[in-house]
Amino acid sequence: MSSQNIYILGIESSCDDTAASVIHNGKILSNVIANQKIHEAYGGVVPELASRAHQQNIVPVVHQALEKAGVAKEQLSAVAFTRGPGLMGSLLVGTSFAKSFAYGLNIPLIDVNHMQAHILAHFIDEEGFDKPNFPFLAMTISGGHTQIVKVNHYFDMDVIGETIDDAVGEAYDKSGKILGLGYPAGPEMDKRAQQGNPKAFKFTKPKVDGLNFSFSGLKTAILYFIQRETKKNPDFVKENLNDICASIQYTIIGILIDKLKAATKQTGIKQIAIGGGVSANSGIRKALKDGEQKFDWKTYVPKFEFTTDNAAMIAIVGYLKYQEEDFAQQDITASARLKI
Ligand code: KG4
Ligand code: ZN
Repeated sequence: MSSQNIYILGIESSCDDTAASVIHNGKILSNVIANQKIHEAYGGVVPELASRAHQQNIVPVVHQALEKAGVAKEQLSAVAFTRGPGLMGSLLVGTSFAKSFAYGLNIPLIDVNHMQAHILAHFIDEEGFDKPNFPFLAMTISGGHTQIVKVNHYFDMDVIGETIDDAVGEAYDKSGKILGLGYPAGPEMDKRAQQGNPKAFKFTKPKVDGLNFSFSGLKTAILYFIQRETKKNPDFVKENLNDICASIQYTIIGILIDKLKAATKQTGIKQIAIGGGVSANSGIRKALKDGEQKFDWKTYVPKFEFTTDNAAMIAIVGYLKYQEEDFAQQDITASARLKI
């Protein structure tokens, strides 16, 4: 097989972003995302609305991805799609589309695990971004996921820690909701946190065994704290918003860094790659940089557009699997609870 000109179309539809991307060998030519604004009004993703929006978006998004890349569909070597995990109704749209598209073009179909893709996004060729060496630790932190994974090789990964309830992005979004912020609240809380005092208020970190996480207790603690304080002073949130955000952020980052420290100790691996929307957070970025000095870590943060939900990460996995001729059959189905 010639490894010279491999073009893969990647399709992502696991949650509320309809995305398509074209990769040529290891380099991304286009990365198109249609965000679904409709969920903002509900303060969270509404699965049925997400699925309907995917149906409206998928054809124009794929069309745009091909057009931006300057690639005709006849040039494609394969179609890669997110099989799971995610919302079933959302996954079905991308899966059905990818199956028909590959069938119509008579090219291979490649199924991709969304969680592996967040990690393998680090292998996209991008100037100024180093690729981690195996083995490394990957921490995927977003609105839907919180995991620490030991990555032995591209498709040889062990989940060594994960959340037992809410994801870290949910901790941001739900506490932001308590504070009256819009959805998703993470970016605004991060901005405010940078102008506040992280030690103004103290929240207890949950005690969870091993490398697992828990964020639902923190959310409840924040809720009770705010209820208590606003009873005393109705303007408490307004008057202290930056300090509250900084204190919440300080607690969350503390939880993540404690677990990373434990993971490096347990595995002896000091290369850490992060992914997922929360990796945009200024506090986690700074804490990782500090870790390079303090604990001799080497840390990797991908380009932002490849770290939130996107199809470029699906395309790179498609490229890696294509080279191994690891193809899916036409009877493959979406899998909402797919594991790494
Ligand atoms: O990866 P992503 O775009 O979608 C998934 O959830 O899979 O992540 C979105 C999450 C939201 O919870 C959002 O609040 C959070 O990432 N987020 C942040 C920041 N930017 C996005 N959380 C904290 N600080 C940020 N700067
Ligand atoms: Zn994701």
